[in-house]
Amino acid sequence: MALVSAKEMLENARDGHYAVPAININNLEWTKAVLSTAQAMNSPIMVAVSEGAGKYMTGYKTIVGMVKGMIEELNITVPVALHLDHGSYEGAKAALAAGFTSVMYDGSHLDLEANLAQTRDIVAIAHAQGASVEAEVGSIGGEEDGIIGSGELADPAECKTMADTGIDFLAAGIGNIHGKYPENWAGLSFETLEAIKAATGNIPLVLHGGSGIDEAQIKKAISLGVSKINVNTELQLVFAAATRDFIIAGKDLEGKNYDPRKLLAPGYDAMVATVKEKIEVFGSANKA
Ligand code: 13P
Repeated sequence: MALVSAKEMLENARDGHYAVPAININNLEWTKAVLSTAQAMNSPIMVAVSEGAGKYMTGYKTIVGMVKGMIEELNITVPVALHLDHGSYEGAKAALAAGFTSVMYDGSHLDLEANLAQTRDIVAIAHAQGASVEAEVGSIGGEEDGIIGSGELADPAECKTMADTGIDFLAAGIGNIHGKYPENWAGLSFETLEAIKAATGNIPLVLHGGSGIDEAQIKKAISLGVSKINVNTELQLVFAAATRDFIIAGKDLEGKNYDPRKLLAPGYDAMVATVKEKIEVFGSANKA
């Protein structure tokens, strides 16, 4: 199946009370783990790429080529959206020009008027080519690609103004943060999520910082209108742990285990297990 916009898959998720996983990729192993597990679980999926990961993989054109090639050669038939995560204004335009089918324009560091104006520009460009747009109000805490947010709670009135720009789905801070959650994390603010939902109506909502949030909070967030959940750190952690265990046990020194196809296999398998678990918890299995 060709790459699709995320609009329809998130509207289906909203109406069906589940969430589509948006999993950040870093290289071929990540991409293969995400696509093949989504296919095995019959789940719609968003393949997310941060600007930093985009540079690491040499650029957006390389990524579009890799993802399209893999969809064809792995016979992936579930809906796949290729999504830029936390894009800058120029980054969003470049990803769309390269063939991404969805972008997040993150103007959350700007004042609201500037964020709205830039978001409207990206919406016009994306919609002209059938791609979907996510925007953000209030910052998501934690650090990602050098952008540090303070984890504020978004203002529901600002969320409504942003939703009215014509974006397809909205990210809004509700106490979530990127990366590992600290011991003393207060948890998600469902009060804020309810107020945002009431103010914005039907637009699908996005939960960033999906790594490490317990199942009960995930399910409650979905019941209150979250239709897309971003996961990045958790795959990095399980990949690193499995690779570390393999090497500490001296297994890389056995036979031909220096071959990257063998050396990276435990980390790959750990990522597959994590993607499977997310699809189960988010309820997107068999929703393709
Ligand atoms: P985590 O790294 O905390 O899973 O967050 C991912 C994310 O929100 C990407 O935008």
